[in-house]
Amino acid sequence: MSAYNIRQYAVIGAGNMGSGIAQKIATEGHPVLLVDVNEDAANTGLERIRTLLQKGVERGVFKPEKVERILGNVTPTADWSQLADADIVIEAVFEDLEVKRDVFRRLGDVCKPDAILGTNTSSFLVKDVASVTTNPERVVGLHYFYHPAMNRLVEVIEHETTDPAAFDAAWAAQEAIGKTPIRSADAPGFVVNRYFVPWINESVRLLDEGVADIPTIEWAAKKCFGVGMGPFQLMNVTGVPISMHAANTLGHTLHGFYAPAKGLCDQVEKGEDWDFDGKADESKYNAIADRLMGVTFYVAAQLVHESVGSVEDTDIGARVGLRWPMGPFQMINKAGVERAAALAEAVVVSHGLEVPYLIANSGDRRIHISMVNYEESENLALVKFSRPDSLNALNVQVGLQLMTAIERARVSGKSGLVFQGTGKAFVAGADIKFFVDNLERNTFEPIYHFARVGHDCFRTMSGKRQPTIARVQGLCLGGGAELSGACDFVVCSPKASFGFPETGIGIIPGLGGTQRLPRRIGLPLAKWMIYTGQIVDANAAVEIGLADALVPFAELDATCAEFVKRGRQSGRTTPVTAPDTRWQSLWDFFSSYSVSDIMSGVVDTGGDAQVEKSVKRMSQKSYHALLAAEGMLNATVDMEIEAGLDMELDHLREVFLHPDALEGMKSLLEGRRPEFEAVTA
Ligand SMILES: NC(=O)c1ccc[n+]([C@@H]2O[C@H](COP(=O)([O-])OP(=O)(O)OC[C@H]3O[C@@H](n4cnc5c(N)ncnc54)[C@H](O)[C@@H]3O)[C@@H](O)[C@H]2O)c1
Repeated sequence: MSAYNIRQYAVIGAGNMGSGIAQKIATEGHPVLLVDVNEDAANTGLERIRTLLQKGVERGVFKPEKVERILGNVTPTADWSQLADADIVIEAVFEDLEVKRDVFRRLGDVCKPDAILGTNTSSFLVKDVASVTTNPERVVGLHYFYHPAMNRLVEVIEHETTDPAAFDAAWAAQEAIGKTPIRSADAPGFVVNRYFVPWINESVRLLDEGVADIPTIEWAAKKCFGVGMGPFQLMNVTGVPISMHAANTLGHTLHGFYAPAKGLCDQVEKGEDWDFDGKADESKYNAIADRLMGVTFYVAAQLVHESVGSVEDTDIGARVGLRWPMGPFQMINKAGVERAAALAEAVVVSHGLEVPYLIANSGDRRIHISMVNYEESENLALVKFSRPDSLNALNVQVGLQLMTAIERARVSGKSGLVFQGTGKAFVAGADIKFFVDNLERNTFEPIYHFARVGHDCFRTMSGKRQPTIARVQGLCLGGGAELSGACDFVVCSPKASFGFPETGIGIIPGLGGTQRLPRRIGLPLAKWMIYTGQIVDANAAVEIGLADALVPFAELDATCAEFVKRGRQSGRTTPVTAPDTRWQSLWDFFSSYSVSDIMSGVVDTGGDAQVEKSVKRMSQKSYHALLAAEGMLNATVDMEIEAGLDMELDHLREVFLHPDALEGMKSLLEGRRPEFEAVTA
């Protein structure tokens, strides 16, 4: 557990990046100092934030009061003495090594000795910035992506002497502001620019070699990588010289292969943007796609080979930071590893480079992409869901990897097992597309297999000697809420929210939710949650017993460790009364009325607003799913839980094969309201 406790953030440099980083910190509710060379420059940064937020108000994203609240968290200043209380300082001044080193010298003088110092440099090594400050071991790289208030990705970079505890604290500080961190070594281009810059550069090489014209390369790159902007448009948006500069840095420090294409240098010399309009010649698609894939595959494999980043972080970087639908390693698996290696070879052989072993000798073996990371700390086993861009949704592969991680924890001898999510979700449900694809093919077996794997995982957890803790920092929905319910304890932070949205998509909670939820919060409130899909916030979760503790984000890890010391939760008693008066009307209503009573309207809501809202919400759900959920809840609440779990699993076929299930899940994917079968009560 980290000794660092991050509460006060500061950003140095109120330009494009600095003001955006401060905006994100403030939006997530944290106070932030925004420091620049003088008051005017700092205030300009604040105004830049105001302008952007104002646009959000015009688009209906923010209410005016929220804008004022966010701006109220930002303190623009040129007074460096205010940095004395900062716990983390993020430098985002000009990309000039001497300017950055000056800043780090000054930070060494004014900051606490254990304040974390981060640099947002794109092209220098972190160690070269860190070396001039006191305690360089508390320095990390924090490389954000434009626009940092919107783009969630941040590379957290450890240099040679970064203290692991400082790294962990910097990482946690990024999660606390809603960022998706990936880990990088201190190497040129870090993870993402290492392959993204060559991808752009190769596009210009294709032009130089006369393989195709700009509109054709632009079109083929967009089609092959599934992106909205091709390399030439991207260069225009970010500034053509920036691409040349980035390629130059990689070329100087790594290999001539990375050096800028001649056409790129010429274009910078001309001082013009690229003209990418025109008609694409579709016959050239393969020639272009193969080259761009070859470059990407080579560099991605090489950076993993050099331990700059992991396979998983390379892919997350592409999906979250660049918004590619698939990361390089997913693309390698899709192309087939043998073919991917051949494409890479064709690109680099003329540069005297070799394709790294990772893909060169894999034959037809797939690259293993971990979706569930298993780690160990001093006395804890940690299982981390690591698909932040899919909100860590469960699927068969995740389930199988989860089972392996649980097994590793079991034999590790560690005293507790903590489950956690990365990004904005703990685990937000299951892979709906997988369900839809199978139902459209009229196959239920893979769905049953998925549910079986989930049931086995959660039962294995319950059967363990080690206490299990769900560390819930964000969305905890559907399968995620079922996972947390299978843990001995649930510890959450203020942004956590819990819900069972299944009946709204024509199904029921099928990973033990109909069994563990009523035993945890009482049958009436379990019915309320499952029938209405109502999402409850962290406060309410603790009130009704869904969660055992609510603590600030910075205290999550320590609190989980405390709960582990309590040992296994030796059987909760199912609540038989409402938790307090606030919940009494819902408790009474769902104790008194059946689904058919409620749906046929023969109920007395007593004029209670919460009850009326619940009835309204139920009218939008699948009647068939509501009845199935009710049947399951009523039939099993007094059974031994194991028998109830078996019964839930057995009933899934009937639920999934009803037309409401396909309709509900399809409607979710298509972003429309479902049309369920009519109520026949
Ligand atoms: N723009 C991008 O897309 C991007 C992406 C990732 C990283 N970066 C990196 O972020 C950093 C900032 O880039 P930017 O685009 O925001 O630059 P910018 O020119 O918009 O802003 C730099 C700010 O730093 C201030 N500044 C300069 N010297 C200072 C000092 N000694 N003390 C305090 N403030 C000082 C300037 O007044 C200015 O407001 C650079 O290191 C850049 O490489 C940029």
